[in-house]
Amino acid sequence: MRSIAQRNSAQVTDNAELVQRDGHHYTYRFRYQNSSTKTQVGTILCGSSAGFHVTLKTVRQCRVSSRMEPNGFPSRTSILTAAARAFGSREPDASVRNPDWVADRLIGPDELALIADHPISKAFDRDFQEAIHDPDVFGFAWLMLVRTRCIDELMERAVHNGATQLVILGAGFDTRAHRFTELLKDVAVFEIDYGATQEYKKQRVKAALGGAPANVAYSPIDFARERLGEVLRRAGFESRRKTYYICEGLSMYVPEERSVAPNP
Ligand SMILES: C[S@@+](CC[C@H](N)C(=O)[O-])C[C@H]1O[C@@H](n2cnc3c(N)ncnc32)[C@H](O)[C@@H]1O
Repeated sequence: MRSIAQRNSAQVTDNAELVQRDGHHYTYRFRYQNSSTKTQVGTILCGSSAGFHVTLKTVRQCRVSSRMEPNGFPSRTSILTAAARAFGSREPDASVRNPDWVADRLIGPDELALIADHPISKAFDRDFQEAIHDPDVFGFAWLMLVRTRCIDELMERAVHNGATQLVILGAGFDTRAHRFTELLKDVAVFEIDYGATQEYKKQRVKAALGGAPANVAYSPIDFARERLGEVLRRAGFESRRKTYYICEGLSMYVPEERSVAPNP
């Protein structure tokens, strides 16, 4: 894509390169000159409701943000789903509370700022009972409640039935390795996601929780381009061991020919 017009006092000097697509959000890396005329590298996040075709117009509407350095930029949807679990974990009624109390530790002001335009972000500043009656909030929070509880339960069952490896595809800010330390103490956990999301998560996990348990391996992948089997083998996955796979909120982002490939 050719260079873009001036924005936030930064003149883009080079072609913008698409480095990540996450649903309808696109991250471009580009070079720009700021007011001190130093050439720098930055990223832009493009939100487009127009589908997968990013137009120059969309890019012109993008925000240049120095906070989003290359390799430091997490998937927006991973923050959104974790925020919905974190919010749901504040539910006073235990019968409909999301069990993901760890998400509430990971999602802090910086993460909420990344999704500031979404109602779930604003919900954290509102009275819980008032916010949970907002349709944009309860729909999302309750979707996550069902997802979290259902997958937690199936995972527990699988480990009790002998699974000794857990592969979490498109893990984002999945917290099961932290919430189920006792259950998973003899289980090798492989978290698979974009490298940038994993790097951000690792830093956040270190700051908020002191680090990840020793049995967790973060294995970067781009599902659209790489083979899961190869990535797993490099991470120490053993195909003979009984394995439980979690694929939560991922398949809609992966091209169909990759997600149904018989030998991924
Ligand atoms: C909606 S989030 C779900 C995260 C987590 N499973 C959850 O339910 O909270 C989708 C995740 O898939 C990851 N993802 C999407 N497309 C991907 C791709 N091509 N390669 C690797 N990861 C991808 C994103 O980075 C993000 O973490």
